[in-house]
Amino acid sequence: MTESISNAKYRWRCPSNIAIVKYWGKKENQIPCNSSLSMTLSNSFTEVELELKEKTTSQVIELSYFFEGKRNIHFEQRVHQYLKDQVLDFPFLNQFHLTFHSTNSFPHSAGIASSASAFGAIALSILDAAQDFSKESISQEYFFKKASSLARLGSGSACRSMFSGYAVWGKNEAILGSNDEFAIELPKVHPNFQNMQDAILIVEKEPKKVSSSVGHSLMRNHPYAQVRFLQANERTKRLHEILLSGDFEDFIQITESEALTLHAMMLTSKDYYLLMKSGTLLAIEKIMEFRKETGIPICFTLDAGPNVHVLYAQDYKEEVNRFLNSQLTNCVQEIIFDNMGAGPNKMTR
Ligand code: DP6
Repeated sequence: MTESISNAKYRWRCPSNIAIVKYWGKKENQIPCNSSLSMTLSNSFTEVELELKEKTTSQVIELSYFFEGKRNIHFEQRVHQYLKDQVLDFPFLNQFHLTFHSTNSFPHSAGIASSASAFGAIALSILDAAQDFSKESISQEYFFKKASSLARLGSGSACRSMFSGYAVWGKNEAILGSNDEFAIELPKVHPNFQNMQDAILIVEKEPKKVSSSVGHSLMRNHPYAQVRFLQANERTKRLHEILLSGDFEDFIQITESEALTLHAMMLTSKDYYLLMKSGTLLAIEKIMEFRKETGIPICFTLDAGPNVHVLYAQDYKEEVNRFLNSQLTNCVQEIIFDNMGAGPNKMTR
């Protein structure tokens, strides 16, 4: 073991992303049942520092995972399994004691799913370390492609966080280069959809009752699964066209219908469950009313939880933020103002 590599530290910041067409249902090895399309965020991110130290036991993976300064055994177990599965590709993982220190930019009780940004940052730091052991230098493009693939194995949605703006994951016949292994960036998006805002309305801060993993597994014997997967592929294709053409009306229609379809899948699975709260529905109704009254093109989406993401163009930021800050106080605990982001960063401090 060389002294320079032992005690080396690798630090990455990886943003979260919000899916517009949703990934819901997966096969073995984190292969999605349909293509999905997301927008990378900016202010909601995870920072991870990976430190390599001398190993003290003969365990395959020797790991400590700290979240905001405190050992997080629950997440550590998930990361442990993930890293164990990567040892063949990254032999250094079993040669060091691996210490991860991670922090989130968003309040840790905000009920925001952090697995995308966390596994994104973990994958980036592993790949960065692996580069130190490798004699080959790789292009930046290849690095992020590999990081996307590696992040996917930790959490599917994480693979879409590696890119600026919009990303597609999952093979879609209409989108050149799209595939199930890693996400790709969608360049040349119409100016209408650049600098999109995402105000995250925190309706409830409790951790969700049913994990995404369980949700995905319920799609296996779901009566509407096949129709849903076809619909999502069709919508990914259509949304891609919309992002190029700049049509806001169609963007709103697909975005909102996707959010409701995702929750409809939960409501109609064999072990049905409900993640929306009364505040979720109130906020949705207010957003639709505001759009009708003002003609301002804003829309909502949901992830697998009760919180509402409000999407709108930067041009309307002032009016929309005034509306959100004044009209939603009875159903929303907190608002996190975010926007389209530029992807991950290596931290040098
Ligand atoms: C509703 O990526 O959290 O946010 O692969 O099991 O970690 P795992 O699932 P995860 O699922 C995300 C589901 C979603 C939709 C989406 O992000 O596309």
